[in-house]
Amino acid sequence: MEPWYYRLEQQILDERDFGRAAQETCRTLRAEVRHYNWVGVYMIEGGDTLVLKAWDGPAATEHVRIPIGQGICGLAAREERTVIVDDVNKDPRYLACFLQTRSEIVVPIFAKGKVVGEIDIDSDRPAAFTEADRKQLETVAEWLGKASARAGS
Ligand code: SME
Repeated sequence: MEPWYYRLEQQILDERDFGRAAQETCRTLRAEVRHYNWVGVYMIEGGDTLVLKAWDGPAATEHVRIPIGQGICGLAAREERTVIVDDVNKDPRYLACFLQTRSEIVVPIFAKGKVVGEIDIDSDRPAAFTEADRKQLETVAEWLGKASARAGS
């Protein structure tokens, strides 16, 4: 693992403010990984809506609130699992944000055994996300889950 990864772990676990931890996560992931073109953190509010809490990328998304019934984001939250879409143009569940996006990964954030949010990453490259991305991002999601449980307790 590269140094930025351990730095990010420390920053998330040291941060008392969840919003700042989420923002630092988005900034670092986008800055350090070339195929991560847009990175966002959504958190579940009211039991049924994903609300965008932090993001980093070339442009804002119109999808700042996503009902859990919709999109790849909703699917990952409902099924409580990481979802990788290699070609977003072929997936009817995909909610389009950016014309240049070709593939997407959505990784749930768990706190106290429940999905509380997720990391959503768009890539301009088709099939950009590998098992290595999944593993790395599931670990980042664990750190965010701890930060979220602490903020909510
Ligand atoms: N594409 C997502 C919506 C969020 S944007 O990618 C920022 C989806 O299908 O749920």
